[in-house]
Amino acid sequence: MCGIFGCILKTGLAAPSIYDGLKRLEYRGYDSVGFATLELGTLHVKKDKGKIEDVVQRLSLNRLPGSVGVGHTRWATHGAPSMVNAHPHTDCQERIAVIHNGVVENFLELKGELINKGHIFKSRTDTEVIAHMIEEEMKGDIELGEAIIRALKQLEGSYALAVVSSDAPERIYCARNESPLVLGLSEKGSFCASDVPAMLPYTNKVVYLRNGEFAVLDKDGFDIQKIQDGVHVERELQEITWTIEMAEKQGYPHFMLKEIYEQPRSLRNALRLQKQYLDLLTAFLDRGKELFLVAAGTSSYACAAASYMFSKIARLTTYPVVSSEFIEQYGSSVGIDSVVLAVSQSGETYDTLKAVDLARMKAATVLGVTNTVGSTLTRVARAYVVQQSGPEIGVAATKTFTSQLLVLSQLALRLARARGKISQDEVDDLDDKMLKVPDIVEQVLGRHGEGIKNLVNKYNDNDLYVFLGRGISSATAMEGRLKLLELTYVPSLAYPAGESKHGPISVVEEGVPVVFVCPRGDSRRDILGSIMEMKARGARIISICEEGDEEIIGISDDMVEMPRGIPELLSPIAYVVPLQLFAYHLAVQKGLDPDKPRNLAKSVTVP
Ligand code: G6P
Repeated sequence: MCGIFGCILKTGLAAPSIYDGLKRLEYRGYDSVGFATLELGTLHVKKDKGKIEDVVQRLSLNRLPGSVGVGHTRWATHGAPSMVNAHPHTDCQERIAVIHNGVVENFLELKGELINKGHIFKSRTDTEVIAHMIEEEMKGDIELGEAIIRALKQLEGSYALAVVSSDAPERIYCARNESPLVLGLSEKGSFCASDVPAMLPYTNKVVYLRNGEFAVLDKDGFDIQKIQDGVHVERELQEITWTIEMAEKQGYPHFMLKEIYEQPRSLRNALRLQKQYLDLLTAFLDRGKELFLVAAGTSSYACAAASYMFSKIARLTTYPVVSSEFIEQYGSSVGIDSVVLAVSQSGETYDTLKAVDLARMKAATVLGVTNTVGSTLTRVARAYVVQQSGPEIGVAATKTFTSQLLVLSQLALRLARARGKISQDEVDDLDDKMLKVPDIVEQVLGRHGEGIKNLVNKYNDNDLYVFLGRGISSATAMEGRLKLLELTYVPSLAYPAGESKHGPISVVEEGVPVVFVCPRGDSRRDILGSIMEMKARGARIISICEEGDEEIIGISDDMVEMPRGIPELLSPIAYVVPLQLFAYHLAVQKGLDPDKPRNLAKSVTVP
């Protein structure tokens, strides 16, 4: 997730407005920044690694000449944060500058073709191919706009793009597929941005570009057309009534809620990872004699769930370990035959990095799954995958958790395929169903987003909650409990349901809410007994179950019915969503700030 801002002003320099716009988009990413402006047909490009304010001052970006320009604040996806990898990216002749938010999935293929045609690449990014593709198309004496459209038609993946070129000194070209881009118009000129907050100081009259659309901006307005067939699009300007602060959260009252609702999109991004990195990790996983899944907090529950996936479909025994325990528990036995897969959203968690250090010292193979390119984990891991969730601002992890699960599912499936321990049909079927997970999460949000508030109203005065699940759902239950604990500070327990009679049942008395996570699947039969045990003690049963599961529904006091079609092994990705919402709404009802729970930090970088 990156931030894009561009403007064509009728008078004055574009650069100060670009700076101001990017500052308002800083929450979208902040590892590097760059501007491209146009003045009398000359393209000026400056960029570097660092925070917006520092880079702008250091390179005097604010003083770049010209009333037309675009700027970019980066959240690295391909290529570590560095000057060369910062946007804008230019073609060989430095006449075309491109800024981009998204992921070009087929960039390696396109890059290979362009290199064969003599193009010289400066960066390791996927974005740079776009500048060279446009340059290549223009060789046929094609006009810039048409060349951009031809290039867009070859791109696979997601993009919000803004392009400027010395060949069109009074224009900005924009396009969108999956990544957001909004256009704005005022008496001062025309604007484009990733998000409304950047626009609001200049205008509240905007048009949201839709998937598959291309727009040409000049100082008096813009013209939109469809990329595929060039059909002109008429769309009325929309008036935004949000304040700047509301707009940063896209109208949601808190970042956490925004991030919960972003999950269909972040999950789609997690399905767009570069296949060669997944293959590389899979090859390492296959070689190891033992696999440790090492992580802290929410990430450790993603690992707990993943251990069921690796064992069930790839027949690989794994050890999910909380990173602060790894050295004590396995430090002496880990060795050259071990693989340590560290999962960390930030890539900076102290205990996880300590575990990784030890593993490397003992010659184990260290792999990583993270959301942060350029983080320490990406530097020390032998190979890693970046989950592409975009920055998560809410301290309690939500979208990064579900994306970690989806990345780990992809690895488990690849390993299953490589090892051939389950049938080809089973793997294919799981693969198909995995592709539908973002849609299922979208349905869950659509159906239950509001309804969960009623559930919260009913249960908001309890001073103890219990979460139970069997099999992989025990990890979902633990994560649901963690969300509640983090946000509401209400004591709560989570256990594999089978363990409840070994202790937790002692706290259950009349009226205690017990949340059962019970998707259909192998563990579904045994959960009925656990529900009955709790009911017999007067517990109020809240089930997260599949729609139409009458047996469970019949013995529950309340239920959240989940769409059919998600296999048990992938169920945590969808079944955790109502639990995220429950914790969020309960916190709000208690007057607490869900974005900043007390005593907690987004990234724990100290022992
Ligand atoms: C902190 C955060 C959690 C996060 C955990 C691990 O406790 O508050 O949300 O799950 O760290 O962070 P990591 O960046 O390693 O995933």
